[in-house]
Parts: sequence; C-alpha cells; structure tokens
Amino acid sequence: MGGVPARILVVDDEPGMREGCRRVLAAEGYEVECAADGLEGLEIFKAKRNFSAVLADLKMPRMGGMELAEEIRRLDEDVVLIVITAYATIETAVEATKRGAYGYVPKPFTPDEILLPVRNGLERRALALEAKRLREERERSLAALAGERSKTATIINCMTDGVIVVNAEQKLVLRNSAAARMLPAIAPLALPAPLSEARCPDIESVIDEIMAGAEPAIVSREIAIGDSTYMANASPVMEGGTKPLGVVAVLRDVTALKKLDIAKSMFVSMVAHEIKNPLAAIEGYLNAVLAGSVGGDAEKLRAILERCSVRARALRQMVLDLLNISAIQAGRFMLKRSRLDVKPLLVEAFENLRDKAAAKRISLSMERMPADGECEILGDRDAMLSVFGNLADNAIKYTPEGGCVSVAAARSGDFVLVSVRDTGIGIKPEDKARIFEEFYRVRNEFTSKVPGTGLGLALVKKLVEMHQGSVSVESAPGKGSVFTVSLPAVPPPDSSGKRIDSRSDPQPA
Ligand SMILES: Nc1ncnc2c1ncn2[C@@H]1O[C@H](COP(=O)(O)OP(=O)(O)OP(=O)(O)O)[C@@H](O)[C@H]1O
Ligand SMILES: [Mg+2]
Repeated sequence: MGGVPARILVVDDEPGMREGCRRVLAAEGYEVECAADGLEGLEIFKAKRNFSAVLADLKMPRMGGMELAEEIRRLDEDVVLIVITAYATIETAVEATKRGAYGYVPKPFTPDEILLPVRNGLERRALALEAKRLREERERSLAALAGERSKTATIINCMTDGVIVVNAEQKLVLRNSAAARMLPAIAPLALPAPLSEARCPDIESVIDEIMAGAEPAIVSREIAIGDSTYMANASPVMEGGTKPLGVVAVLRDVTALKKLDIAKSMFVSMVAHEIKNPLAAIEGYLNAVLAGSVGGDAEKLRAILERCSVRARALRQMVLDLLNISAIQAGRFMLKRSRLDVKPLLVEAFENLRDKAAAKRISLSMERMPADGECEILGDRDAMLSVFGNLADNAIKYTPEGGCVSVAAARSGDFVLVSVRDTGIGIKPEDKARIFEEFYRVRNEFTSKVPGTGLGLALVKKLVEMHQGSVSVESAPGKGSVFTVSLPAVPPPDSSGKRIDSRSDPQPA
C-alpha cells in the first residue's frame, strides 16, 4: 500500500471488538479511529470527512449499523461500508447491501476475514474514484472543447470578411454571415452543399485552381458579384499529406477601394487630357510664329501671343486648383486673408473666361453689380478668384451654344451674396447632392463631351467653407442653374470715410 494510508472508522459498542479491529487494521498500515455507537460514529465521520472505509456493528445503542450505513452513504457515495454482526442471516446481509454496504462480516472473525473485504473494498473504491476522475476530466475537456468551438464559430461569424470552407469533394462545409451576405445564393443552403449551388463560377475557379495545383498555393483574385467587387484570398487546408483536405476562402469587400481606384485613374487621364489641349494650342500658336506665318505683322503676332497667354493662364489656374485641393486635403492650405472688394474680383474672373464664352456664343453679363466697396469680404484673393472662376467656368461649360451666363452680387445683412446664373442644361435633384463631392461628374450625353475633372465644385465648397461661408444651388434639368455663394461681409465705409457696422443700430448724428 503506497502513498497516504487509508483512514478507517471502526464503530462498535463492544470495546474488545473495537480494539481487535483497530489492532488488525493498524498492523496493515491503515489509520484507524473508533466510535462506541452509530451516533458517535456519524459525528466523527461528519467532522473529519476523510475516511475511506467504515466498519460498523449492526446492533448498537442510540444508532444501529443499518441506519449509520444509510446516513454515511448519503454523505459520501464512495466510502467503503462493511457491516459486522453476530446475528448473521441472509436477510440482514441483503438489507445491509441495500442500504449501501459493500460487505458483510459475521462475528466472530479472524484477522484475514476482516482484512480481505477491507482490502477488496478499498481497491474497488480506488478504481471507482479513478474512473470518476477520468469521467470528470473527459467531461471537462469536452466542455472546454465545445466552448472553444463555439468561441471560434462566434469569431468567424462576427468577421466582416466573408469566410467559406470547401472540402475536397467540392462541397461547401462552412460559411459565415458575411459570406452569406456577399453570396446570397449560399444563405439558404443546408450544409454540406455542392459549391455549384453558390452560383459563383469565379469562386469555383479559384477553388478548382488550388485543388488541382501540384503544389499547395494561395490564390488571390478580384471577383465581381452584383455591383460589388471582392478580393478572394483562398488557401489550401493541409493536414499532413500533399493533397489539400479542402480550401478556405476569405472574401474582402473592396468595392469602395475599387471605385476610388477607378476615380483616380479617371482623374489622372482627365488631368492629362485637360493639360494636353491647352498645351497643344500654345505649341500650335508658337509653331505658327516660328514658321514665319505671321510675317512682320505686329498686330497678328500680338493677337497670337495673347491667345497663348490666355491658354497658359487657364492652364496655370487648373494646376493651381489641383494643388489647392491636395493642400486642403493634406491640411497644408494657408489662407492669406485681406480686405477684398468682391466686384473687381468678379470682373477679373469673368474677363478670364470671355474668350471661352465667345467661342460658344454665350453672352456673359454682369447684372446687379454693387457699388464699389459695398460688398467687401475678408478673404484670400486667389481662393476667391478660384471660387468665382470655377462657378463661371461651369456655367459656360454646361450651357449649350447661344445661352446666357450672368453674375449678380449684393449685400444681404451681414453677408455678401454672389450668384452665377446660367441658361444651361440644369442638374437633376439626385445629382445636386453629389456635385460638390470630389471627382463627381454628372454623366449624360451633354456632359460626356465636356472635359472636366470633377474637382471644381469640391474646391469651391472647401474654399468657401474655409471663409466661414456656404454655397448652394438651385437648378432643374433643362431650366438652367443658379449657384449662390454666401460670405461674411465686412462693414462698408460710411460717407464720412468711417466704417459702420451693419449689425449695430444707426447712431444719431
Ligand atoms: N452650371 C452647371 N450646370 C449644370 N451642371 C453643372 C453645373 N456646374 C456643375 N455641374 C455638374 O457638376 C459636376 C461637377 O462640377 P465640377 O465643377 O466639380 O467638375 P467639372 O466641371 O466636371 O470639372 P472641373 O471643374 O474640375 O474641370 C459637373 O461635372 C457637372 O455635371
Ligand atoms: Mg467645373
């Protein structure tokens, strides 16, 4: 017997019996405690709770062995109970086992007659305890495994990327919620289901490629499903061997990135196009001069150089717009604000576009112009020229030949309002909300022939907002448009040359 000695409780009202048992058991290496009747035995058992076996006489005062056996079994289902009695009958033996006793020893007995059932009982107890420990351990690890599994399943299900797993028989064995959203055909499928039922040939081909490959490889491919674009990254599931058990594919929604990518390449090609035309015109004019086609005609030469200058200025303005947009986006844009009269700025912006309007026979007029100094703002000159220039440029670009473009400016309370009106193609309500977005251009038959980057109004909005102002549009398709910029005004000078604040009440003279 190795390890900690087993503790045994001997309960008998006969002192001789108690002592006899104690001696025999102690000689075998057991630790023994004794009690003189059932009640005392029960109390000791309850107090110590560390007995492996209890030997109890059947007939005792206060509480007999049967009752004690029953009580002890209730407290400890593994303890070995052995009853001892002088009145041995089959009935009592059966009754004792019914009440939870392991064995039964008739009095008088030899040391071996008591030791044998004790040893066997303890051995059986040790086996039962070991089996119980193993059972509990298995249950614990099963519970842990189930917990891990459900944790993993929850994580996979909560992923924003779609995950699908396909086995070697081309059957879909797992899909998470994101995948069910991305591939609506797989949502209702009972798994496992043939991959063909996902109705996505692109995914099938990605998976085929991995399963058919001689070497395990990761395949990444962009696939289009409906209006969305996904990046599918698929890799083989290997577990020993050289053949994959299946394939796990992760789908990432790259629609927004794709759109940005397309917008950027369109932007680059538009910018290139926008730069190419005026450069070609300038080059053409200069070549004409160099080829001597002007001869000595100073007036003709001057007209050509002026045209070159106009085109070069427009080109410079466009490059400035681009630089401004990127500076604003990078948070590097600095306004150099000074007191500006809006009227001469509008005249300058319109003059820059006079040729462009004339080429389309569009009349360019300044209506309802304020008095000099009536509409002053605290603004950045170049930024304001860009705002008014862009609005006038759009008005000309999006008005068919022979139309009218006009500008009006007025003071309204604490604000200066500038409106650029055209008789052009107008804008649909659903586009009105988007034309101030970067790179957004309305697509229709008319605009497809109009070059542009879609940056003009985005820049206008950003610049106006940096001046604590706002820009709005009123328009209807076919009815023309009016873009109105509202900017905080600075007070106009009064007749005495002093400035008055329009917000304050008129002062008595
Ligand atoms: N006056 C207008 N009338 C009708 N549509 C307009 C008008 N102004 C702007 N739009 C629409 O709004 C879109 C965005 O205008 P925005 O000025 O930002 O870009 P763009 O003119 O296309 O290019 P860019 O100004 O950068 O050269 C235009 O493509 C056009 O469809
Ligand atoms: Mg524009």
